[in-house]
Amino acid sequence: MNSQEIIAKKRDKKELTKKEIEYFVKEYVKGNIPDYQAAALVMAIYLNGMTKEETTNLTLEMANSGDILDLSSLGKTVVDKHSTGGVGDKITIILMPVIASLGIPVAKMSGRGLGFTGGTVDKLESIPGYNTSVEIDKFIENVKKTGISIIGQTSNLAPADKKLYALRDSIGCVDNMSLISSSIMSKKIAAGAEKIVLDVTVGSGAFMKTKEDAIYIAKMMKDIGKLANRETVCVLTNMNEPVGKAVGNTLEILETIECLKGNIPEDIKEIILAIGSYIIKLAGEGENLEENKERILENIKNGKAYNKFLELIQNQNGDISYIKNPEKFQKAKYIMPLYAEKTGHIEKLDARQVGVTSVHLGAGRIKKEDSIDHAVGIWLEKKIGDKVKQGDILAYVHVNNEDTGKTAIEELKQAYRIADNPVKMESYILDII
Ligand code: URA
Repeated sequence: MNSQEIIAKKRDKKELTKKEIEYFVKEYVKGNIPDYQAAALVMAIYLNGMTKEETTNLTLEMANSGDILDLSSLGKTVVDKHSTGGVGDKITIILMPVIASLGIPVAKMSGRGLGFTGGTVDKLESIPGYNTSVEIDKFIENVKKTGISIIGQTSNLAPADKKLYALRDSIGCVDNMSLISSSIMSKKIAAGAEKIVLDVTVGSGAFMKTKEDAIYIAKMMKDIGKLANRETVCVLTNMNEPVGKAVGNTLEILETIECLKGNIPEDIKEIILAIGSYIIKLAGEGENLEENKERILENIKNGKAYNKFLELIQNQNGDISYIKNPEKFQKAKYIMPLYAEKTGHIEKLDARQVGVTSVHLGAGRIKKEDSIDHAVGIWLEKKIGDKVKQGDILAYVHVNNEDTGKTAIEELKQAYRIADNPVKMESYILDII
């Protein structure tokens, strides 16, 4: 068996065997297969697809490419959560402290931004001092101590995914169903949680553009979960417009603080209630989804979730004085408004365009090695369904370079469409699979 034959087989639209997938993944992780050959195989997979069996074999091989965490010492069912990616998606950072405040352990490994989508690790790192790269022992110790830890993927957790994820990003091969589901499920299987709730995003700011695609990938990930003995629930959420008002790292932490103080925009509220109620159910802590939703709202209202957020940050060496006094966060040099050109109702706010613009501002990476600017981003004052008058402020661009800001305003203008008549609102939760 050699790598050229495997690449040629997929190029010719043939099905790879378990042994061929095993060989390729193992040798790539060891460094015996160069990036250019892995890129050729990934591109062939992207163009020609993979069967369910190939996808399952790829997932299990990637999960087994490094450590498989054992969380049994926590003594309780751990439910993991992961999103397939979106714009302004700060759901993990808001919801997981709520879950921990209900006594359900949270041991969560998150990712960095990918393409035009943001990443939880980048957002958390905008809190001065917050350490996202702790050793596994310390990670588990933190969960035992406070019931919650959120960190980045450790170097030996699904290392095959780590390499392939960066490679896919650099060759324009992120949005492929088999590659996305194997990437997510390999990490989730390796991260040790017994049960998994997935936020499968659908729409312009997601990798799955249609509900049909999202249902397909959700079923595929559920089947893989079953095979690996991990019960999986997928919540399909709308990503045609960004989640909440903030897009960009510090801005999203500022919005998170507000949400945990009870000031929650409707879309965020519906999403945290839908996903959170299933996490509680899967953890064996409440069969009734409506009651679970009440408990989530109650722990936000009584401040327990906010206090858990402070504990999380303190345990990861973050400086909680920033959370208590949000004005301490470094602001961008320029805060530039985008004005409505006509009176009407917001009909469209294209999440993808907002995500791309935020990357151009410096909130995300164009190349893997790029550093990000935590302070920059976009604050959306008006969203789909809102009534506007000509001259109203639609959004603010937070930027450190005036020319970049002017270009961003022009780009952002394209994201909005204003209709004369009131628009019909889309649901935030599209399906549960
Ligand atoms: N999130 C992941 O972890 N992997 C992907 O491929 C896409 C989103």
